[in-house]
Amino acid sequence: MSIQIIDGKAIADEIKKEIAIEVASMIDKDEKAPHLAAIIVGEDAASQTYVASKEKACKSVGITSSVYKLPASTSEKELLDVVHFLNQDLDVDGYIVQLPLPDHIDEQKILLAINPAKDVDGFHPENAGRMMLGLPAYLPATPFGIMELLKRSKIETAAKHVVVIGRSNIVGTPISVMLSRKAQNANATVTLCHSRTKNLKDITLQADILIAAIGKVGFVTADMVKPGATVIDVGIHRVEDVGKEKGYYLTGDVDYEEVAKKASAITPVPGGIGPMTIVSLLQNTLLASKRVIYS
Ligand code: GUN
Repeated sequence: MSIQIIDGKAIADEIKKEIAIEVASMIDKDEKAPHLAAIIVGEDAASQTYVASKEKACKSVGITSSVYKLPASTSEKELLDVVHFLNQDLDVDGYIVQLPLPDHIDEQKILLAINPAKDVDGFHPENAGRMMLGLPAYLPATPFGIMELLKRSKIETAAKHVVVIGRSNIVGTPISVMLSRKAQNANATVTLCHSRTKNLKDITLQADILIAAIGKVGFVTADMVKPGATVIDVGIHRVEDVGKEKGYYLTGDVDYEEVAKKASAITPVPGGIGPMTIVSLLQNTLLASKRVIYS
């Protein structure tokens, strides 16, 4: 069976070009460039890498970016002060608080304090609720990226059975809602599986589109995949390997080599969903600067 390896990086690059054109036309009209800010608390290596990638991506399309780097010892009150500052800052169109936060900070309390009109991660309950109801909302970047990738790869979702593994607030739960909605590029029948699901393999074998978002290396094996299915791998893991220049390699939630022999389409790691997530944040920042969701 010939396999379509879905090139998330190429699709993300195409979207970046579209964003860059829009930003350039704003600047031509003497409008301010969109401005994304990020708050990062502590020294988590993966978070540092994500924020650096977001900054680089902003630069590549002409979006202004600023990063507030706070020490791990920052108190909840100090972090709330920065959030309140950014809520007020007229120059900042949208911002994110990079997760995870240190244990002594209540994540929900911080997310609730973000002005929903600037919540380009779509993590505030107001945006999550709007999304659930099909109202204009900032969509969380990873599910937004998956939707865009399926659409641009011309993978039909209407009437298909989508099986999602993992029920996180960031990926599994929102993508299940988005794909089951009565809307273009959705209309799927969705089954959301998680750690308490019985007979997981029986369910995944029914998937026309299988979305792996569990956060476990190589969790989805070939025996769980229906021949001809589309497989979307949301996982991204660093596996130590002294033989590699960086001392590690990146891999996903899917046993790529074996599953690729069975699937009709698959996203690689890296170069699949990762670049789509970053570009979705840029799309949300552009929407924020144009006041599309909240006028
Ligand atoms: N941590 C892991 N993914 C994300 C994300 O999309 N946004 C934020 N703010 N933190 C994250």
